[in-house]
Amino acid sequence: MQARHISAVSMTPQVHLHETPQALAEAFAGHLAARVQAQPGPFHLALSGGSTPQLLFSLLAGPYHARLPWERLHLWWGDERCVPPSHPESNYGVADALLIRHVPLPAANVHRILGEAEPQDEARRYASELAAWLPSERGYPVFDLILLGMGADGHTASIFPHQMELLHAAPACAVGTHPESGQLRVTFTGPLLNNAREAAFLVTGASKADKVAAILGHAPAAQAYPAAHIQPAGGTVAWWLDAEAAARL
Ligand code: 6PG
Repeated sequence: MQARHISAVSMTPQVHLHETPQALAEAFAGHLAARVQAQPGPFHLALSGGSTPQLLFSLLAGPYHARLPWERLHLWWGDERCVPPSHPESNYGVADALLIRHVPLPAANVHRILGEAEPQDEARRYASELAAWLPSERGYPVFDLILLGMGADGHTASIFPHQMELLHAAPACAVGTHPESGQLRVTFTGPLLNNAREAAFLVTGASKADKVAAILGHAPAAQAYPAAHIQPAGGTVAWWLDAEAAARL
């Protein structure tokens, strides 16, 4: 498959298709580098968790290392599991192992969610840290770019289908619960996600194809999927897909 970039039309999301997860990660790494280079001053980027972004992290630490002005980049997390950073499920721990310890990011530019803290307290603390560092518009901090994944159930960040109220929760951060494991997660809420200049879904694998097609096809069933509700009012949303995730488009 040749890479195809279906450009945005009004509120229609941008869709970027690439054959393989590696090709997708390389294309997104180039896009990220271009965005950071094009914008003077601090660039606030929120990372997603899970497995999909790990290829991207390795590319940024490796072949793309020299293409990012690390001293201007600030890393945040769209969600974090309520576990210590040393825990194998820590989103920060994965990013640290694959990316952070390999690049010259100033320590002050790494804003991890304290997974080891009391979840409600940490949701409040993280929201305060966001307010202190980011510009604010429409009553919420504004991210330059929020990287998102999507689960096979249509969740994004740690907003799951059984907690759709987090899409409209007033605070910028809240505590979500994984529907199967019951694991608590600190997560961005819908108003913060939808206040970004750019939201970018990085989605790979056949298990996501049905939900991707339903969301991008505006199927009525998609209203039950949190990822379908990410459409920044003052920004853009893009879906970066490999061939398997795009198979039903
Ligand atoms: C997390 C995420 C979550 C993730 C999706 C997709 O903490 O798990 O932020 O929203 O992006 O579950 O995960 P995979 O990339 O592992 O499929």
